[in-house]
Amino acid sequence: MKKIGVVTSGGDAPGMNATIRAVTRIAHSKKFQVLGFQKGWEGLITNTFTPLTPRSVGGIIQLGGTILLTSRCSEFKKKEGIKKAAKTLALNKIDGLIVIGGNGSMKGALELSKKTRTLIVGIPATIDNDVFGTDETIGFDTAVNTAVAEIDKIRDTAISHERVFIVEVMGRTRGFLALTVGLTVGAETILVPEVNYKKEEIFRTIRESTAKGKKSGIIVAAEGVGDNRVLAREIEENTGTEVRISILGYAQRGGTPTARSRFLASLFANEAVELLSKGQGSKVVGLQNGKVTSIKLEKSCNTKKPLDLSLLKLANVLAT
Ligand code: F6P
Repeated sequence: MKKIGVVTSGGDAPGMNATIRAVTRIAHSKKFQVLGFQKGWEGLITNTFTPLTPRSVGGIIQLGGTILLTSRCSEFKKKEGIKKAAKTLALNKIDGLIVIGGNGSMKGALELSKKTRTLIVGIPATIDNDVFGTDETIGFDTAVNTAVAEIDKIRDTAISHERVFIVEVMGRTRGFLALTVGLTVGAETILVPEVNYKKEEIFRTIRESTAKGKKSGIIVAAEGVGDNRVLAREIEENTGTEVRISILGYAQRGGTPTARSRFLASLFANEAVELLSKGQGSKVVGLQNGKVTSIKLEKSCNTKKPLDLSLLKLANVLAT
């Protein structure tokens, strides 16, 4: 192992820079060279990279985003694109590649691993926390804290106006962010893509809250559950409660990474470089029951991470 590549791919996540920094410094401690490929898979297809040194990654641990930039690269979804990326790895004599990203990036890493001798290790970094093989992804804790801080502010005006707010958080297909945020802000209702909710249930919950003397409320909804504007109107029509919507959007993807996200970044980077230095590839590193470990890349890509729906019931009890 003499030379490794590193790439950040897909939706960015706070902590990606801390990860790039740790990968670079740990690799250099082992006398590896490090090439940082730009703009996700696009950089591998176009052979666009910058050498990374311990100095070039100074002062970035606290920065959101990724100094390597990222992309959602449609060309990489085609065989041609993967072949070009494999050629770039061979051309630069890259012995190991570390892919920092979410589910989609791990799937891309798996496809690339089938077309190259370069050893590939994934580091799960996404605010969605939906990568199988790790209890927590880099960036998730930061996005949770960003959303909680915003919803605490929204609760002030909900109380002042005696309104219900539907707060939309990120998570197109999975509800890890919505569930964790909902529980930690004391939401009366949490809507996740994994559960086909019944509108009548929502109306009933709001009517019961009102009957118990609650004058305002928070509904946390993952963006993937549907059109929240329609839901807002139907709640007003069916309960007589004033409803407003707040979409937290891309603020959840940025900001300075929390200590937790930085901590995971350092531990996952160490595990990833260690695996490569031992000649192990096609793995995804992760945290399982408090322990840093790794699983097969294929297993991670082919397994849907379960969402603990019992937390929805807990949230209901806590919000009575
Ligand atoms: O994967 C992270 C994520 O932020 C999702 O929560 C969200 O649905 C998606 O990315 C948005 O994708 P894009 O940045 O391409 O609009």
